[in-house]
Amino acid sequence: MPDRTRSIELLNQAIADEIGAIHQYMYFHFRLDDLGYAPLANLLRQTAIEEMLHTERIAERILFLGGEVEMSVGRTVEKIHDAREIVSKAKQLESEAIEMYNRFALEAGTILDSGSKKLFEALVDDEERHYDQFDQQTEHIERFGEQYLALQSFQGGGEGGGQAGGQPPA
Ligand SMILES: [Fe+2]
Ligand SMILES: [Fe+2]
Repeated sequence: MPDRTRSIELLNQAIADEIGAIHQYMYFHFRLDDLGYAPLANLLRQTAIEEMLHTERIAERILFLGGEVEMSVGRTVEKIHDAREIVSKAKQLESEAIEMYNRFALEAGTILDSGSKKLFEALVDDEERHYDQFDQQTEHIERFGEQYLALQSFQGGGEGGGQAGGQPPA
């Protein structure tokens, strides 16, 4: 196997970013739940879980390449309380992740590590989906106001509420 030091570095940077996102999204989940915005809180929780699964896939790749999984935390949690600002921050994080994974995929290609390149490309797809989900929420808040989030929580009902991104109130 060729020297994979650089790939392992990129993969560990990716893990640090994912762990930072997990912490931030869990924080957003608690805050939104406290505001009574259950479906949006649930979307943040679900996204945090998906970022955890990303961490797992990246860690498996590092181990396959014979590296150590550093488990660094890429950023400190921003204590944002406002729902609009939370969604806007989540969009920004996803947008940065998309840019990062595109860059990493390109570099993995130039160092002839097709396996890591494919992993980074698959992660771009997931982060684009996350971005799109948060973007939809932004549009709904802009069209119907933040009250829409509270109304939606009645429609979603129950423990943890329904899926965010459903139909806004008429
Ligand atoms: Fe991710
Ligand atoms: Fe994401």
